Amino acid sequence: MSRPLRATIQLNHLVHNALRVRDFSPHSRIMAAIKANAYGHGLNDCVRALTPHVDAFAVLNLCEAEQIRALGISKPIILLEGFFSADELPKLAALKVWTVVHHQAQIEQLRQAPINTALKVWLKIDTGMHRLGFLPTDVPAALAALACKQVQQPVNLMTHFACADEPDNAQTQGQIQRFQTLTQGLAGERSLANSAGVCAWAQSHADWVRPGIMLYGASPLQDKTAADLGLKAVMSLQSRLIARKTIATGESVGYGATWTSPETMPIGVVAVGYGDGYPRHAPSGTPVYLHGQTVPLIGRVSMDMIAVDLRSCPQAQIGDLVELWGNHLAVERIAEAAGTISYELLSNITPRVQKCFE
Ligand SMILES: Cc1ncc(COP(=O)(O)O)c(C=O)c1O
Repeated sequence: MSRPLRATIQLNHLVHNALRVRDFSPHSRIMAAIKANAYGHGLNDCVRALTPHVDAFAVLNLCEAEQIRALGISKPIILLEGFFSADELPKLAALKVWTVVHHQAQIEQLRQAPINTALKVWLKIDTGMHRLGFLPTDVPAALAALACKQVQQPVNLMTHFACADEPDNAQTQGQIQRFQTLTQGLAGERSLANSAGVCAWAQSHADWVRPGIMLYGASPLQDKTAADLGLKAVMSLQSRLIARKTIATGESVGYGATWTSPETMPIGVVAVGYGDGYPRHAPSGTPVYLHGQTVPLIGRVSMDMIAVDLRSCPQAQIGDLVELWGNHLAVERIAEAAGTISYELLSNITPRVQKCFE
């Protein structure tokens, strides 16, 4: 038998979640964020499944855009950070890829580009996140400089939220207001909302929404679960017990001997570890799903294995199915236990994990 770890990717759940985006923002078009290999789910299969249900794809770089075009898909594609060097511009024009422009240097490169087809450009405005984008005072000059033969008019307008996952954080309302004031009277289409904006900030929906994490079935909001939002997990990371034993009181488990048994007890070993993308910092107590219940992880996560406490599940045997996250155990619960976010866990699944698409 081969090593039993699998990531099952339920494409029908991906489509379901895209339809949930439509329910939340019925008047907006959808740019599906499929960067980072579709948040770890497999770009090609996810793009094929999403194509009939979304209006555009949002990617990190030209390489991902080329991968989508190679599938024969002609829907719009946008580079969320724009192009990284001027030599990419002829390719963008040839592949009809839209680009974000967030910096003056990009405008200068665009104005000098030897291209005959004008590019669709989204001007990124920094309304408060202070990562990428033009400060409000610099927007008029940027738009004036973008009025050149290399750029389709009108230029579209976007911004990105810093705190939209926090329903009580006033920063999001401030960002929305700043964007609305600044773009009043301008001709381009508008986009503000990531998944949290889609689910919690209806005023931000505008012409285009840009959901990522909610498509993959994880909650973008701090105060709501994926189930609360009607989302379904797309990835189920499953493996099996490969060992079971009884250890005596006071015996330790795993590297560093960080966990010690309080009594004579059964433990199990599961074939998954940080070499697969399971978080090494998941502490003892992190839930693992087995036989319709959760059992606690015990000891340190190894590269290829974890150990679990089987006292509450004494019937468990070698070969039994275990879910690390997925339909029965929300990835957010593991992320919270490990001090990270679902985005990181999903996109960190390593290439050695076999994906099965359903
Ligand atoms: C500019 C931009 N828009 C949209 C998204 C999608 O965000 P989320 O996955 O939180 O929906 C991202 C993700 O990082 C982004 O950088």
